Amino acid sequence: MPGARVWVDLFPGARAPGPPPTGPADTREWTGVMIDVLRASTTLAVALDHGAARVVALPRPADALALREREPGALACGERGGRIVPGFDLGNSPLEYTAERVGGRTLAFASTNGSRALLALAGCGEVRPGAFVQASAMVEALSFEPRVWMLCAGQPGGFALEDAACAGWLCARLAERGATLEGPAAALVRALAPADAAGVRAVVQGAPHARELRELGAAAARDVEFCATLDLLPRARAL
Ligand code: MLT
Repeated sequence: MPGARVWVDLFPGARAPGPPPTGPADTREWTGVMIDVLRASTTLAVALDHGAARVVALPRPADALALREREPGALACGERGGRIVPGFDLGNSPLEYTAERVGGRTLAFASTNGSRALLALAGCGEVRPGAFVQASAMVEALSFEPRVWMLCAGQPGGFALEDAACAGWLCARLAERGATLEGPAAALVRALAPADAAGVRAVVQGAPHARELRELGAAAARDVEFCATLDLLPRARAL
């Protein structure tokens, strides 16, 4: 079986909207991978591993509150400025998303950059959150997909080091399994791939966004440590 063909975008808006130019114009034929290591894709990876039934990405906190109003039992989740939104059930800490809190629940998820990237991937045949905590499981899952579109959440108007490094780690492992990396950003991120778990920790801990999170306090600092850990989770479920 031929390996996956992989396209990478460094952040939403890095090029004209729509699926990658090297493959089908029908978005449904792509498997989307949203990468926001600090912290949205790590948080969603944990939520799915802990049995969340469904994730609905929403652009604004008010949309998450409205969905919870329409669907009692749904949880309003996400952040603004890194902090839980007033009235929300959960913030954006992966450590909050326990099986007890999220098992079987719909998550109305409104984070700043992660939700924007998820919305850009809407319409893909399948979307998975990509993170270091389930990176090897993600490689397993993606090895069988013909077309993979990795979209890094980045930050407004630019790329984020930790997201590019995670895309690079996935690209490097997929290339070892015969995947074809397409486009300039895939080559760039592959060059940034950390070599091992210590490299992953160094890149994530050293990223500017990690410093901003640590300034929010001890809980956010623990989140950074968690997000910087390779292969904590055995599964990489789709949304
Ligand atoms: C986001 O979606 O912008 C981030 O996950 C922000 C955060 O670290 O809470």
